[in-house]
Amino acid sequence: MEKLVSLCQRRGFIFPGSDIYEGLSGCWDYGPVGVELKRNVKEAWWRSMVRERNDVVGLDASILMNARVWEASGHLTEFTDPLVECKNCHLRFRADNLESEKCPSCGGEFTEERRFNTMFKTFIGPVEEDAAVIYLRPETCQGIFVNFQNVLNTSRKRIPFGIAQVGKSFRNEITTGNFIFRSREFEQMEMEYFVKPGTDEEWFEHWLQARMDWYVKYGIRRENLDVYEHPKEKLSHYSKRTCDILYRFPMGFDELEGIANRADFDLTQHQKSSGKSMDYFDNEANEHYIPYVIEPSSGVDRCVLAFLCDAYDEEPDKDEIRVVFHFHPDIAPIKVAVLPLSRKENLAAVAKDVHAGLAPCFTTQYDDTQSIGRRYRRQDELGTPYCVTVDFQSLEDNRVTIRERDSMAQIRVPVATLRQTLTAKLAGENFSILPEGGTVVK
Ligand code: GAP
Repeated sequence: MEKLVSLCQRRGFIFPGSDIYEGLSGCWDYGPVGVELKRNVKEAWWRSMVRERNDVVGLDASILMNARVWEASGHLTEFTDPLVECKNCHLRFRADNLESEKCPSCGGEFTEERRFNTMFKTFIGPVEEDAAVIYLRPETCQGIFVNFQNVLNTSRKRIPFGIAQVGKSFRNEITTGNFIFRSREFEQMEMEYFVKPGTDEEWFEHWLQARMDWYVKYGIRRENLDVYEHPKEKLSHYSKRTCDILYRFPMGFDELEGIANRADFDLTQHQKSSGKSMDYFDNEANEHYIPYVIEPSSGVDRCVLAFLCDAYDEEPDKDEIRVVFHFHPDIAPIKVAVLPLSRKENLAAVAKDVHAGLAPCFTTQYDDTQSIGRRYRRQDELGTPYCVTVDFQSLEDNRVTIRERDSMAQIRVPVATLRQTLTAKLAGENFSILPEGGTVVK
């Protein structure tokens, strides 16, 4: 993990939040490369959960919500963690994560355990009074539940159907840590899939499998994933059944995503609390009911961490070690780097033209600093699948070299077919299919 944190900082993936002020605990900033990686993760999720399906629609609800939402959802009373404080140094810990009865920092005694609500409070409007207290959402899904009727009435979807949302959530975690694994501000990718009661168990299995397949499709090794079934007595207040998808992080297997059967808990609570009907009329079955909900809920930042961990490799290369991220092409933050062999004007002009031709199609970097070997190494550390090298020969034959990240093999292709070749390669077509006139450079 230490290596990863330092590489992420050095290469512009992730920086500590408020860095020049010694940081802010549990907050992280995504740099120029990290922001691309994170966007790709969200994009891949959205594509598979919304765009490629006919039964799921999207939503982008407000982070700030009426405080009554959290009363109805049970968060005001239930969204708590057990907290103990050291009587000596006053450090606070989550009681359920402690390995000893003494403070790990100074050996002091702990206070009695108390429940600590992890929702962030703030005020709406200019007066800081009790009536103006609102909360930063601790999960995105409540925005989906309160919009259930709005979406149903406007989208013409019939059950079973889902509403998906990606956005920020905030939790005032007692302890944060393990890099971006547990932070106080993070993003979630949640989908609430509304089903007919009685079909919920089947749909639960469907979504658990679909979500496992998604991780594998984007390059996470199956042996690094596992499923943990929550025991009945430890389920969240809203859940009938929950399974976590676990990933083998450097600190051990831990939760990447939760799949929950929330039954009709949330819609019933909001119906009671708001007085607005959450009823659904099923024309096929000719009956009214409040739908059950299956929820796959994944953390964007935890996904980013899992993709970073899984893709990271240190490979012997001659007498050096090559550090490389073997990202799936859809996840890789930079798809193509254009590297002119020299900064000489005639070469730079051609390389800039090549870059301009590719930039509208792929996230592309132009790099003309340092030796070509060091630039390849740098792109390996960013996980860039392809580097395009423009050399003096290119001025004569209008061809450039494509260097592949994983095999380090090189092929020479005409500039005229470069975009097409890279498109095919990034779409996962066989690397050995050379464009007409392409030659393998050994
Ligand atoms: N709506 C259900 C829900 O929020 P959760 O298990 O509390 O369920 C879902 O959270 C996912 O959100 C987790 O599996 C994790 O990936 C992510 N997550 C939760 N708390 C987090 C935190 N403090 N930092 C980063 N990610 C977090």
